[in-house]
Amino acid sequence: MKNKFFEIAFMHSLKGIPMVAPNPPVGAVLVKDGKAICASHHKAYGKAHAEVNVIQEFKKKFPGISLSDLDMYVTLEPCCTQGKTEPCTDLILNSGINNIYIAHKDANNVNSRGAKVLMQNGLNVKFLEKNTDIFKKINLSLQPFIKWHLHKLPYVTLKAGITLDGKLATADKKSKWITQEDARLNSSKIRNLHDAVLIGKTTFIEDNPSLKFKNINSQQKQIVLCDDLNFSDDLKLLKSKRLVFFVGNKASGKRVLKLSNLGHEVYVSKSELFSAEALFKALYDLKIQSIFVEGGARVHGFFYDSFLQNSLFVDRLLIYYAPFLMGNNESVSIAQGTGVSDLSTVKKLKEYTLKAFSRDFCLDGYFNLYPDK
Ligand SMILES: NC(=O)c1ccc[n+]([C@@H]2O[C@H](COP(=O)([O-])OP(=O)(O)OC[C@H]3O[C@@H](n4cnc5c(N)ncnc54)[C@H](OP(=O)(O)O)[C@@H]3O)[C@@H](O)[C@H]2O)c1
Repeated sequence: MKNKFFEIAFMHSLKGIPMVAPNPPVGAVLVKDGKAICASHHKAYGKAHAEVNVIQEFKKKFPGISLSDLDMYVTLEPCCTQGKTEPCTDLILNSGINNIYIAHKDANNVNSRGAKVLMQNGLNVKFLEKNTDIFKKINLSLQPFIKWHLHKLPYVTLKAGITLDGKLATADKKSKWITQEDARLNSSKIRNLHDAVLIGKTTFIEDNPSLKFKNINSQQKQIVLCDDLNFSDDLKLLKSKRLVFFVGNKASGKRVLKLSNLGHEVYVSKSELFSAEALFKALYDLKIQSIFVEGGARVHGFFYDSFLQNSLFVDRLLIYYAPFLMGNNESVSIAQGTGVSDLSTVKKLKEYTLKAFSRDFCLDGYFNLYPDK
């Protein structure tokens, strides 16, 4: 087993994000005589798995050639049940492949017997060592999928662009961008890896963002969390076909009807504002496996306070820092919630990295790291 082939399989797996959600991103490589000869990935939800695609790719490239002396490297344990597609274990067993190297166990209990089935049928099956860098990268890429199956909750990334004194916006809320273009580009790349982006009503109005997703055909959603639906109908996002509103119960029925007739999804809370539990349940029902929360301050406060009650409500923190101070007491802080008043009750990041841009820098940290089984 060579870790470099898992690196190739991993790079391919990433190409499936976000089209495969709520399935996991998976990549597979076929190796002959120490050389990777074919690689592929799971491309879209409900469509062929990575193992099927890589075998088909091989047959196209090398018609009539047997797979019997090939090794397969795959980033996730092959499935062993009939779902939207045939069990991959059947395909692998019928292919003649002798060695299969697997990076990560399947978090979905229904499929977590794949390796056993292959072994019982005489295949040589080995798992990647968990203390390797490549295992860690694959595990990180599978975090939303693992959380989804372990906890039936979407994976939450809280993102903000702030000054060194933790300010999100000037007091008049007209500042719009704190960080420079290269940092913002990095943020939109990471947004693209999520199934939905969420902002609050004031950000929707004041920033009038487009919150674009790169994948035109994806099912990714743009969500606005609002107390009511009182805003101008000229805002940019209202032209989007991906827009979803989660609104408090004081929203006028007329506005709900109008926005619904325009093709937007509108979910009205039973109470004045959405509770975290109700919001997360609704997101789960919409099959949103990962969500990128882009503020503003009250929305961050809402998520952070919910996280203080339940550690599963925020997983990742992505903070882009501009190297200056606002220095103004009236300016808007990163999170306007209840927060903590006693430092012994803070919840710390389990790990983080720092990345520098041309002027700004970013902290990418994890509150939760969901394990392989
Ligand atoms: N630098 C950055 O990264 C960044 C990112 C985004 C925004 N911003 C800035 O942040 C400022 C806006 O922040 P903000 O705090 O004023 O507003 P906001 O967080 O964008 O939006 C607040 C809205 O969300 C509603 N809301 C919050 N929790 C809710 C819940 N559980 N259910 C239903 N509705 C809920 C609020 O209702 P209530 O009024 O009832 O609480 C209010 O309507 C703007 O200046 C924007 O430019 C900066």
